[in-house]
Amino acid sequence: MKVVETIKAVRNEVIAAKQTGFSIGFVPTMGYLHEGHVSLIEAARKDHDFVVLSIFVNPLQFGPNEDLDRYPRDFQRDEKIAQKAGVDVIFYPSVHEMYPTNMPMSIHVTSGVDVLCGSSRPGHFDGVATVVMKLLQIVQPNEAYFGQKDAQQLAIIMNMVEAFNVPVNIHGCPTVREEDGLAKSSRNVYLTNEDRAEAPFLYEALKEGANLILSGETRRSVILAELENRLGTGSGRIDYVDVLRYPSLEQSEQLSGKVILAVAYFYKNARLIDNYIVDIQEGEK
Ligand code: PAJ
Repeated sequence: MKVVETIKAVRNEVIAAKQTGFSIGFVPTMGYLHEGHVSLIEAARKDHDFVVLSIFVNPLQFGPNEDLDRYPRDFQRDEKIAQKAGVDVIFYPSVHEMYPTNMPMSIHVTSGVDVLCGSSRPGHFDGVATVVMKLLQIVQPNEAYFGQKDAQQLAIIMNMVEAFNVPVNIHGCPTVREEDGLAKSSRNVYLTNEDRAEAPFLYEALKEGANLILSGETRRSVILAELENRLGTGSGRIDYVDVLRYPSLEQSEQLSGKVILAVAYFYKNARLIDNYIVDIQEGEK
């Protein structure tokens, strides 16, 4: 496994791999790798001959009062995990390598951002879309892998690739969880013991809401009230909770088709997100 820090070097690696007829799988991350990231690497490994992993904490997607400075980092640990998971090249650029000047332009996401993390983190998805567009242009993979844990991010990146005709296939992978149901996240390390013990209740609440839908309740307001009720018992603070159509992220009182139940929840030291997607089958109503 190689570690490269420049755009030129990662491009050369990919060009050489393509010249030997290899197909390229790409996994963009911000590092502090866990089993969720590893599941994406493994999916890429399975489908492709050559796997590129990027580790870059992207300043553009953090708001002024967010956790950019204390986002967890441990490159040596990441290197070991990546090697074991079968990565061929880690692209590990500096902020200066990615943004040598103030960006003269950015991608402005205009659809699907008025809800969930888009409304609670203004500008966040412009930063995500801009860096992912850059990374896709730098690496030029055949396929790029993203987690459904960040369901809105995945939907926005799929829209972006379609809107700008980027020749890459976007692959969504299921959420990897701890044994007690908590979605794996780099930010989980910041939970206090008490918060960590309570946090699985987020997933429990989403599952309960999903079960209600599957047992025939298709009014958004009823599901939302149930979720708010359950989440209200926690010791943290709800950032948002919503029930929307998926992947359009449209609001509608009468739920049908694919539906996403999504939550963002503040504990003292970490904001956690999670979601659950259900498909309302005709027969299950
Ligand atoms: P990061 O939070 O490091 O996540 C990298 C990828 O891992 C994302 O596609 C995310 O959805 C996926 N992931 C995280 N936790 C997961 C879990 N428990 N199960 C499955 N997949 C999981 O998301 C980002 O970085 C950044 O926004 C990025 C796309 C790299 C752009 O900067």
